[in-house]
Amino acid sequence: MKKVLAVVVAVIFVLGLASFGFAAGLEKCEKCHKGEKTVDKMVAKAKIATAADLTKTLREGPKKAMHKPLTDDDLKGAAEALKLK
Ligand code: HEC
Repeated sequence: MKKVLAVVVAVIFVLGLASFGFAAGLEKCEKCHKGEKTVDKMVAKAKIATAADLTKTLREGPKKAMHKPLTDDDLKGAAEALKLK
């Protein structure tokens, strides 16, 4: 019985971590990107299709100053959450 409980707890723990990791993908962006300017709308407008496009736009584009504090991991997480290639 104890073993079953341990497995159940482990599964819940892993699922919890996974959903937290997913939420963290866009969490940093959502501080600024809300309402009319959600990240997915911005990405569509800027015609960003790949993770490399996203990095290039945010690192070298006209809004690079706004995105300076974001780490490469933040951009990677966002690209994954947005399902960019
Ligand atoms: C400090 C606030 C802030 C944060 C954090 C932020 N952004 Fe932005 N972002 C902006 C502003 C302001 C603009 C310009 C909005 C406009 O053009 O109306 C912008 C524009 C963009 C654009 C369009 C760029 C262009 O050149 O057209 C994209 C794509 C974008 N953000 C993606 C992201 C992603 C992905 C994240 C998270 C990893 C993020 N942003 C985090 C403030 C922020």
